[in-house]
Amino acid sequence: LVAGVDTSTQSCKIVVRDAATGELVRSGSAKHPDGTEVHPDHWWTAFTQAAEAAGGLADVAAIAVGGQQHGMVVLDAEGRVIRDALLWNDTRSADAAETLVAELGEGDRTVGAQRWADAVGSVLVASLTVTKLRWLHDAEPDNAAQVAAVALPHDWLSWRIAGYGPAGDPSAPLGPDLNALFTDRSDASGTGYYDAQGADGAGEYRADLLRMALGRDDVVLPRVLGPAGSGGVAHPSVAGADVDGGALIGPGAGDNAGAALGVGMTPGDVAISIGTSGVVSAVAPRRTADGSGAINGFADAAGNALMLAVTLNAARVLDAAREVLGVGFDELASLALQAPAGSDGLVLVPYLEGERTPNRPDATGTLHGIRLATSTRPHLARAYIEGMLCGLADGLDALRAQGVPVERVMLIGGAAQSPAVQEIAPQVFGLPIAVPEPGEYVADGAARQAAWVLAAASGPASEPTTGAGAAPVAPPEWSTTIAATLDADPRPVIRAQYAEVRD
Ligand code: XUL
Repeated sequence: LVAGVDTSTQSCKIVVRDAATGELVRSGSAKHPDGTEVHPDHWWTAFTQAAEAAGGLADVAAIAVGGQQHGMVVLDAEGRVIRDALLWNDTRSADAAETLVAELGEGDRTVGAQRWADAVGSVLVASLTVTKLRWLHDAEPDNAAQVAAVALPHDWLSWRIAGYGPAGDPSAPLGPDLNALFTDRSDASGTGYYDAQGADGAGEYRADLLRMALGRDDVVLPRVLGPAGSGGVAHPSVAGADVDGGALIGPGAGDNAGAALGVGMTPGDVAISIGTSGVVSAVAPRRTADGSGAINGFADAAGNALMLAVTLNAARVLDAAREVLGVGFDELASLALQAPAGSDGLVLVPYLEGERTPNRPDATGTLHGIRLATSTRPHLARAYIEGMLCGLADGLDALRAQGVPVERVMLIGGAAQSPAVQEIAPQVFGLPIAVPEPGEYVADGAARQAAWVLAAASGPASEPTTGAGAAPVAPPEWSTTIAATLDADPRPVIRAQYAEVRD
């Protein structure tokens, strides 16, 4: 058996699967405080509760952790967390991001943006860890001075699973060995100080960029493992007590890379996730450097690039429509399906609280084309859904502009289950769509990685891989159950009228 963990913004989810077949054996989850600033101890507590809810982990032979990207976990020399972690959705470092862009561009923002994209694959926004370190340096110099190691949410949790942690903490019997921290290429690529394609493709930390943010680079950064590498063995009090040799710990992954592994994406597939944020992502052989900032060139969890656009206006647009119309999820869908494609010219550009792709942080939304004939509940319902999907389609175009092949959409996230979204999405995207069974894609991806680590460790080439490059064996062939397959049904009017109002 193998375990996959998703330490997300709101909760911890664990799935236990059969390593050979991928069959789900047990699962458990536990909520923890969310927000934008959280003490990592809450993640540890939620992990132990989720493990208990999943019937314990004594019988698993490997475990891997996927998690929310970018969060800044700063540790002192004794392994203690110096301050609450600043998460991906914390925007206080927006000014620090602009400062770092200007500094690398020697005063020119456009030059700076392109240099960051060239160096680490992404133009800086407040989400990226490096901007949070700069904020810490500027706003909390006493805390910044104590930093001995910087970790991300998933690699901090992996370190705790291995038995390390703050000095004197009984739940951390191995103590505060900072050099035992490890991470993977996908999550490291979201820090802003790791170049997944540097050092001839092996990947390398950029000490110069870390120094720009923190004023020094004498801190421990987690060792970056390649796909199917192992960071060590779980402490038997946490996992693997009943297994010979204990439970191997996989490198883990950022959540988007974990989900890509969990739904089994292949080249040409684009995952569109309609959740708190909208994420449009595709696996590609190499990243590009999009100086416009629309596409983040992250790494995936299998040795490739993960090209990704994030929109801020996804599920919350549907929530706003439900609020305006005073209806539930199902009624919103049936209303929307009563109006024609294009809503007779009623167009919503859904930048309800700014937007990240395109980068318009201060934008507001626009409802255009309201007439007597379009002042109906079905027209409004449909316009909200079309507008939200058109925002995601802009992400698809940004991927195409980077040369990423776009052939099929895998539609995931809660809103993917809406019958109206399933009817309108093939019209807006103009592509065939697969809707996988609802599931814990990130935890599933982590479990698949754990099975991969196990196979690699017992296979002919048992050296754990570090850095990028191919792993000794391929990831296990676990099949993804596709709940619905939708044919492309392009209705160009929807995007044409949207583009006119957006621009
Ligand atoms: C990706 C991003 C989010 C978080 C959510 O850049 O900011 O998708 O990973 O956990």
